[in-house]
Amino acid sequence: MCDTLAPAVPRRHPGSQFSLDTAIEWDGASRYLSVLPFRRPAARERPPEILQKTERRAMATHHLLLLPGDGIGPEVMAEVRRVIDWFNQRGVASFEWEEDLVGGSAYDVHGQAISEDAMKKALAADAVIFGAVGGPKWDKVPYEVRPEAGLLRLRKDLELFANLRPAIVYPALADSSSLKRELVEGLDILILRELTGGVYFGEPKQIIDLGNGQKRAVDTQIYDTFEIERIGRVAFDLARKRRNKVTSMEKRNVMVSGVLWNEVMDALHKREFADVELQHMLADAGGMQLVRAPKQFDVIVTDNLFGDMLSDVAAMLTGSLGMLPSASLGPVDDKTGRRRAMYEPVHGAAPDIAGQGVANPVAMLASFAMALRYSFNLGAEADMLEKAIGNVFDRGYRTADVWTEGTEKLGTVAMGDAVITELDAFAG
Ligand code: IPM
Ligand code: MG
Repeated sequence: MCDTLAPAVPRRHPGSQFSLDTAIEWDGASRYLSVLPFRRPAARERPPEILQKTERRAMATHHLLLLPGDGIGPEVMAEVRRVIDWFNQRGVASFEWEEDLVGGSAYDVHGQAISEDAMKKALAADAVIFGAVGGPKWDKVPYEVRPEAGLLRLRKDLELFANLRPAIVYPALADSSSLKRELVEGLDILILRELTGGVYFGEPKQIIDLGNGQKRAVDTQIYDTFEIERIGRVAFDLARKRRNKVTSMEKRNVMVSGVLWNEVMDALHKREFADVELQHMLADAGGMQLVRAPKQFDVIVTDNLFGDMLSDVAAMLTGSLGMLPSASLGPVDDKTGRRRAMYEPVHGAAPDIAGQGVANPVAMLASFAMALRYSFNLGAEADMLEKAIGNVFDRGYRTADVWTEGTEKLGTVAMGDAVITELDAFAG
């Protein structure tokens, strides 16, 4: 594996090694991996062109592994399956999918949070679409096989080091945020979280019995230069296609891993990305700034643990945890030109509302839109799906989590219906 690939398209920035706009060879077809997910063109004008385009090109079949997981995972995944069916039936794209267990539901059947067989399928798939894991039912299971272990194994074994968590405020939802409208209206920021290193995976990770009635718990924060460099490259590459600003967050005033993080970001910036604005911020101050004036940011790059916390904060800026999608990308494989990828909503299993049919499917659907864009070069189709979601909000439909006075409250399936209705209208 390597995170560089000779580009088949001219690159605007020759210094860039990990380029998300690198053309990749996949199924023999040259695909341009667009990285402009955050602008929303007028999709109403686009579908005829999309349909023409799909008629012209030989359509590759993409293999998806769906892992709905626990809690509301299966409910929101059901809405993605309907969108996949819609794409297949309309001939807009061709997907084959299979489903497997992960998390507590896998533990109940296999005694582990993901079976070896499901791992094999994940490694072979073109993309994994993941729901959510966890719930009180599994609170007492051994730590190694807790539901979250399945998710962490997928991230590690698929080498999904770059986790993109865009926080976008849909215009119609600016009043659902806990912040004032003027602070969040038009918000479009991207949290880039390092996903395969740091304290999540560092060894030793253990609880030692000290023998005197005391125990000692150890988690280890580790970062090597290459890990910081490769996530930094993704941050700078993404920023170049957005508003050209990267804010790197760490705690160098307390942690030596923060000192190295800061040094490596600076060196990489000077060497390869001097045209991009780089700002450093201590992660605690960054959290404060995220709720004080979130629009000051463009791309925030940070480590695994800080990224986990800061992306939950960012989610609330958008009105609800139910709104935030994510893409987890691996390096491009030198030989196959393939990039492993998994797409998952940032929200968890939400056991408190599971089974009630009220979960917001938007983060899950928007995660599938990210799959269209990052794994399958279906950027226009991703725009169309995102636009469909935006239109649903414009029409005043809301799930309970983002409901406000004067809007119509819908359940999960009805929200999916509304999105499909918009897609139908686009496709004519
Ligand atoms: C997330 C989640 C996971 C994490 C949990 C479920 C292990 O909170 O994706 O943000 O901590 O990474
Ligand atoms: Mg989290």
